[in-house]
Amino acid sequence: MDVSPDADYLERYNQSTHAWTKAFRLARGFFITFEGGEGAGKSTQIERLASKMRAKKYDVLLTREPGGSPGAEAVRHVLLSGAAEPFGPKMEALLFAAARSDHVEQVIRPAVERGSIVLCDRFLDSSRVYQGVTGGIDQAFMDRLEQVAINGMMPDMTLIFDLDPAEGLRRATVRRGAEAAADRFEKETLAIHQARRAAFLAIAAAEPERCIVIDAAADPDTVENVVTAAVFAALETRAPARDRQVTPA
Ligand code: TYD
Repeated sequence: MDVSPDADYLERYNQSTHAWTKAFRLARGFFITFEGGEGAGKSTQIERLASKMRAKKYDVLLTREPGGSPGAEAVRHVLLSGAAEPFGPKMEALLFAAARSDHVEQVIRPAVERGSIVLCDRFLDSSRVYQGVTGGIDQAFMDRLEQVAINGMMPDMTLIFDLDPAEGLRRATVRRGAEAAADRFEKETLAIHQARRAAFLAIAAAEPERCIVIDAAADPDTVENVVTAAVFAALETRAPARDRQVTPA
């Protein structure tokens, strides 16, 4: 099994964390997560939002889970290849938590503390849904694991991309090519994906101050407009800009 970290991803990681462009920082950082089922368009939309923000001179860090730091990227391969699957959902939940803890401490917290906007493709809600709800793991165990993994680093805002799983899986198949194999979590039954959709919507309903549901069935430009409007409105009210401080070039 190949467990070497994804070279392209690490290259982008290095560029985004170490090669600063001139950008202004916020008085405090802002941490936004993108969540939802397979093929809902999160990755496309997170890249579009990052480009838009960078064009407006915001200091943006784009990252993802599982992964996002060299240590967590190594764990990503173990999880998505299915190598950990035979050891059960608890083992997988612990590995996701280990990867998240490394990602939080090495990448997310330092970026938020220096005033950046952090955009993260999947985070704790994916564990709540995939390992907790559809993995059947005890809620109290998952709650404790989450606290250890995030160590207080709760997202300021979470966008939940909502889409009929049949359509999401169709899109995901087109994206990877019909002949390539689905990953460990994508390959599960439609009923499981439907349960995940319901679980994401339940989180959004329970935490309306953090979560906003995005209708991902619309065309990508429409979704982009909705995402942009929601995020900029939140930034304006909740994260005022510091006096346009320029970061080192
Ligand atoms: P990935 O290839 O990053 O694709 P996408 O986010 O576009 O689906 O796959 C990540 C997979 O890992 C996805 O099936 C969801 C799953 N996952 C969990 O089960 N728990 C988690 O905590 C995280 C972050 C992801």
